[in-house]
Amino acid sequence: MSSLNSEIQRRRTFAIISHPDAGKTTLTEKLLWFGGAIQVAGEVRGRKAARHATSDWMELEKQRGISVTSSVMQFPYREHMINLLDTPGHDDFSEDTYRTLTAVDSAVMVIDSVNGVEAQTIKLLNVCRMRDTPIVTFINKLDRESRAPIELLDEIESVLGMQCAPMTWPIGMGKSFRGVYNLYTDSIAFFDPHAEKGTSETIKGLDNPRLDELIGRQADELRVDIELVRGASHVFDKDDYLSGKQTPVYFGSAINNFGVQSLLDAVVDLSPAPLARQTATRPVAPDEARFSGFVFKIQANMDPKHRDRIAFLRVCSGRFERGMKIKQVSTGKLLSVNNAITFMAQDRTTMDEAYSGDIIGIPNHGTIKLGDTFTENEALKFIGIPSFAPEFFRRARIKNPMKMKQLQLGLKQLAEEGATQLFRPLLSNDLILGAVGTLQFDVVAHRLEHEYSVDVVFESFDCSTARWLRGSETDLKAIADKYGFNVALDGADEYVYLAPNRVNLQMAQERYPDVKFLETREIF
Ligand code: G4P
Repeated sequence: MSSLNSEIQRRRTFAIISHPDAGKTTLTEKLLWFGGAIQVAGEVRGRKAARHATSDWMELEKQRGISVTSSVMQFPYREHMINLLDTPGHDDFSEDTYRTLTAVDSAVMVIDSVNGVEAQTIKLLNVCRMRDTPIVTFINKLDRESRAPIELLDEIESVLGMQCAPMTWPIGMGKSFRGVYNLYTDSIAFFDPHAEKGTSETIKGLDNPRLDELIGRQADELRVDIELVRGASHVFDKDDYLSGKQTPVYFGSAINNFGVQSLLDAVVDLSPAPLARQTATRPVAPDEARFSGFVFKIQANMDPKHRDRIAFLRVCSGRFERGMKIKQVSTGKLLSVNNAITFMAQDRTTMDEAYSGDIIGIPNHGTIKLGDTFTENEALKFIGIPSFAPEFFRRARIKNPMKMKQLQLGLKQLAEEGATQLFRPLLSNDLILGAVGTLQFDVVAHRLEHEYSVDVVFESFDCSTARWLRGSETDLKAIADKYGFNVALDGADEYVYLAPNRVNLQMAQERYPDVKFLETREIF
């Protein structure tokens, strides 16, 4: 294997998806700890507490330096290089959360064993489904009185439409949680909340008398359970996993470190190395000699006065090295990248080299746009970096009408950066902002004030969702005539229907059956 290829084969780039409070932060921290990237527990959690102590954007901004570094965490584990991409939840849920999922090769889904499948998990999973991203499931909090494991698997299958292949099976739960049985290695790891790695003993074989010695009556229950589980559940099939049809399921308790190492091993052993990526003209294989990559996220830097941004680029092929000249395909400009940032756990360091699957941060002054492709020379355009139908809308009203131009410019630029989406209704001069999380509005208001010196207020706007319209000129014109105040142009001058409610949306769809009402739109 060439050295380029072996570097690529040892990489795993993934994100964790979950509903708030399922344990993503805890799990992230434990993964970093097992990977040796942090020494002390509490570093990530402390950050999260600081982030959520207030929803005030000023406070959040102070944390932004931190959130930049915690957006990507790279650490070595078992001869592999792990890239863990953060997908923020809670109030800071934004389109970035979705777009990050376009930059990974696999995902870990955390399910709270008490609450089962929850709303945000469903949303994030639907995004993973757009690219059939393989998903490993971790059912967390087995140390609490949980729902029956079989019921949880049924729920994942029916709500998320994925087959479940249990890899481990829990022995009891809550106070009587004793550990997990691994169906593939025929071994039992016993749960010990006081042991450093969550377990103090692992034994082989369901018939091992030590099992009876340690857990008494529960041993026979386990034997019966396993017979049932083997008969009733799916056997792990790597192809089905890789095509997103099946999810291998692990049980554990992140806070107690239990089951975390098996999960990390699963990411290394089962999850794919960097995959080929589609461009408008041809697929790009990760081991192609020439460098290419795309920008999936732009984050404003700590110092707003300098309009500094970090563009997060996923390397899709070849090797990046410090000082390399790369071409921004959209403008044809060459960029000499001397100061790209890599993200080793919580430290930002200057990057010397990167391979397919790695994420590099490129500081810039707003010249790099979301969705931009960079190559050594070839005019490629990576596709599949979408905008998502917003669920929250606001009308921007300016306090000082003399500043209308700045407002328009600011909103346009912030929309290009992906901070929010901008819609201009055909029959009014309104500027409508759309977002998938409400914190995006606070961010935009704050940045308009500080970076563009514009004071805005956001008013409510009667709209529940948006759909991009695709159809014949005649149909689009008919829709525009009929729903003029609710048909708008987006940042790319595409027609969008701003639906006041679901019933209106359904009626419009029925009235114009030949028009497509799209929930996502590719950028550019
Ligand atoms: P999130 O990032 O998905 O929002 O979840 P986070 O890790 O913050 O975990 C949410 C809550 O669940 C936290 O409790 C955390 O301690 C707890 N938790 C995580 N894993 C486990 C587990 O395996 N077992 C149990 N019993 N609890 C778990 P909190 O009270 O909200 O916060 P804190 O006071 O512990 O910081």
